[in-house]
Amino acid sequence: MIKIKIFIDSSKLDEIKEAYSYGIIDGVTTNPSLIKEAMEDLKAKGQEINMETYIREILQVAKGTPVSLEVIGNTYQEMVNEGKRLYQLFNPVAKNVYIKIPVCPSFEENSENIFDGIKAVKELSKLGIPVNCTLIFTPEQALMAAKAGAKFVSPFAGRVDDFIRQQNKISFKKSDYFPALGWEKDDEILEDNGIVSGVDLVNQCVEIFRTYDIKAEIIAASIRNARQVREVALAGADIATLPFSVIKECLIHFKTMEGMRKFTSDVVPEYRDLIKKYDKK
Ligand code: E4P
Repeated sequence: MIKIKIFIDSSKLDEIKEAYSYGIIDGVTTNPSLIKEAMEDLKAKGQEINMETYIREILQVAKGTPVSLEVIGNTYQEMVNEGKRLYQLFNPVAKNVYIKIPVCPSFEENSENIFDGIKAVKELSKLGIPVNCTLIFTPEQALMAAKAGAKFVSPFAGRVDDFIRQQNKISFKKSDYFPALGWEKDDEILEDNGIVSGVDLVNQCVEIFRTYDIKAEIIAASIRNARQVREVALAGADIATLPFSVIKECLIHFKTMEGMRKFTSDVVPEYRDLIKKYDKK
């Protein structure tokens, strides 16, 4: 069995079905923004939406593999109640629901709910509900999440790269590559409190988890391009969750396509005839 797992980071049922049909997908991650995107697509196509049926279908497609559903509240009680409700409602469908809880649900630094995410992770985990702790931007957040009992921790690689570029007024497109070893500007490597890239964040989480034999699995999330997939795999992430576009990008190379054109044009009739001869059998 290949130990690194690939999840699809999407709430679009058609993408999820398609990706599962290739036999390469080991799970699904959703979040409220991805659900919004999926619903907007359906509305644009004039399709009726029944959220409950829609989620049930995702769970069925992914049967046998985990699907993360995120809470929407930002207090301990709301998140625990929502987590329990989502789990009770949807886990019976295919027994594959993970509840996504933000590591810290606060909007501001001085908020009163700074510990509520961790408390909710602990409570749900204690009840036997598997948790994917999300919105992780430092190895110490990952450590706290794992200590509280999360089964998955999700460092957001791409958003770290976005943040470093935003802080340094570097313009970029979402899919642009960001060097794993850091971005050099004016003879200095740019960083966010000792993290030089999203891949570095994943790498540091992996190192800590391996050092202390922490069992929570690390999901490299917020992946923006194929090269980042390679880099988080090299870093030792247990799982990489990929948008459909990145899964597709993983298969494309100029020389592969050029090679295909050449092999196709070089086929001799004898070889074609031999293969075609058995076509109908
Ligand atoms: C992870 O679980 C999140 O759904 C996701 O990876 C966020 O990615 P984004 O930063 O591209 O929105």
